Amino acid sequence: MSAERDPRRGSGPCRGPENWWRELCLGVLLFLALCCCQTCGMATPDQVKPIITMEQLLWVSGSVIGEVNTYRIPLITATPHGTLLAFAEARKHSPSDIGAKFIALRRSQDKGATWSPTSFIVDDGSLADGLNLGAVVVDWEKDIVFLVYSLCAHYHQCPVASTMIIRSRDDGVTWSVPRNLSEDIGTTMFAPGPGYGIQKRYEPKKGRLIVCGHGTLARDGISCLLSDDHGLTWRYGRQPLHGIPYGERKLLSDFNPDECQPYELPDGSVVINARNQNFYHCSCRIVVRSYDACETLPLDNVTFDMTLVDPAVAAGALVKSGLVFFSNPAHERQRVNMTLRWSFTNGSSWWKEPLQIWSGASGYSSMTALDGAAPEDAQSLFVIYEKGWVTSTDSVSVAKISINGKL
Ligand SMILES: *[C@@H]1O[C@H](CO)[C@@H](O)[C@H](O)[C@H]1NC(C)=O
Ligand SMILES: *[C@@H]1O[C@H](CO)[C@@H](O)[C@H](O)[C@H]1NC(C)=O
Ligand SMILES: *[C@@H]1O[C@H](CO)[C@@H](O)[C@H](O)[C@H]1NC(C)=O
Ligand SMILES: *[C@@H]1O[C@H](CO)[C@@H](O)[C@H](O)[C@H]1NC(C)=O
Repeated sequence: MSAERDPRRGSGPCRGPENWWRELCLGVLLFLALCCCQTCGMATPDQVKPIITMEQLLWVSGSVIGEVNTYRIPLITATPHGTLLAFAEARKHSPSDIGAKFIALRRSQDKGATWSPTSFIVDDGSLADGLNLGAVVVDWEKDIVFLVYSLCAHYHQCPVASTMIIRSRDDGVTWSVPRNLSEDIGTTMFAPGPGYGIQKRYEPKKGRLIVCGHGTLARDGISCLLSDDHGLTWRYGRQPLHGIPYGERKLLSDFNPDECQPYELPDGSVVINARNQNFYHCSCRIVVRSYDACETLPLDNVTFDMTLVDPAVAAGALVKSGLVFFSNPAHERQRVNMTLRWSFTNGSSWWKEPLQIWSGASGYSSMTALDGAAPEDAQSLFVIYEKGWVTSTDSVSVAKISINGKL
């Protein structure tokens, strides 16, 4: 037989002298391709080698630049236009959780390379117990960005907590006046996120907007706000995840699920990864999974992720390109060691070698990813986090991660 390839005999693994052989062989290949299609597009361990390709400080605390005392509680989201929106609390006069604040926003239209100057999109004036962030949620179907925050979350010199929402229909350039959601959902304190809310991409309840958060004693534990009409009306899910003992002051080791980040898995369930405020069971994360689009958060569906060692902090979690990513200061007690982990198994296990983003002081974090057609978008994610040399509240930084480790 000639070594030269005869085009009529086909090419690749199925070349051969006989038609029946080629057809059988192609059939087997087709069968294998269909069989394995569930994992098509999903990365394998050798394709996932995350590295930091860019990092910049978006805000610096200590009245160094401008007059804001402290920037904290960073949030980030991508929009349907491929824009990145980064938000933070700009605490006017002190580092304290209470006190007057702005909501600071910077936009990037070039995948994180450059950022607009800061605009202060909400100003709470001189409230003793001002605004607290918060959760950003994008309605991808209607191209609307919502930002949910609270007022008077600590009842410090104010009698009533409010849940507020603002909305942008122009990619985060301009924002509506704040709407008081408490007129519809009541005035029980609800601290959204901090992080992002989700829009369901799969059934059940495809299209639903979900914003999860935690409460104080009156409604402690985790509950989620749901909207099935693109943010027109909101209500709480039927069954929240209560702390134990419910409605009482918690002691060390009590069950006290707190700040939280939801994400949707490809089976349509929603996982909420939560701060374990009183270190129940472990210095690690509480995970609750909802199979009905956050209508119920059953105690039966609570697990503890012992790999995700955590000092009780707001952490980031994100599903991207078939992987689950998780960011937090990986330490049992201190806010240091900002670490990125990833999971090939829907979050049921984590790859053995995480990426250390910053060894020093680091606190709250949140993540997002662009959703465009560019190959770069499939391989990039963004981690925004509290970062410092001395304390984690020194600055807010955004790191761009290349998932496959290519620049
Ligand atoms: C929001 O609405 C609630 C319920 O009507 C009210 O008690 C609260 O004062 C309002 N908050 C603001 C900031 O207007
Ligand atoms: C989740 O909780 C429900 C209600 O308690 C229970 O019926 C169901 O088996 C749980 N699902 C899983 C996968 O654990
Ligand atoms: C940082 O996190 C990594 C991953 O969990 C861990 O191996 C390492 O010991 C941590 N370092 C510190 C200083 O906590
Ligand atoms: C992740 O979940 C999806 C949807 O349920 C499933 O098809 C896939 O096999 C899961 N992956 C792993 C590794 O468990």
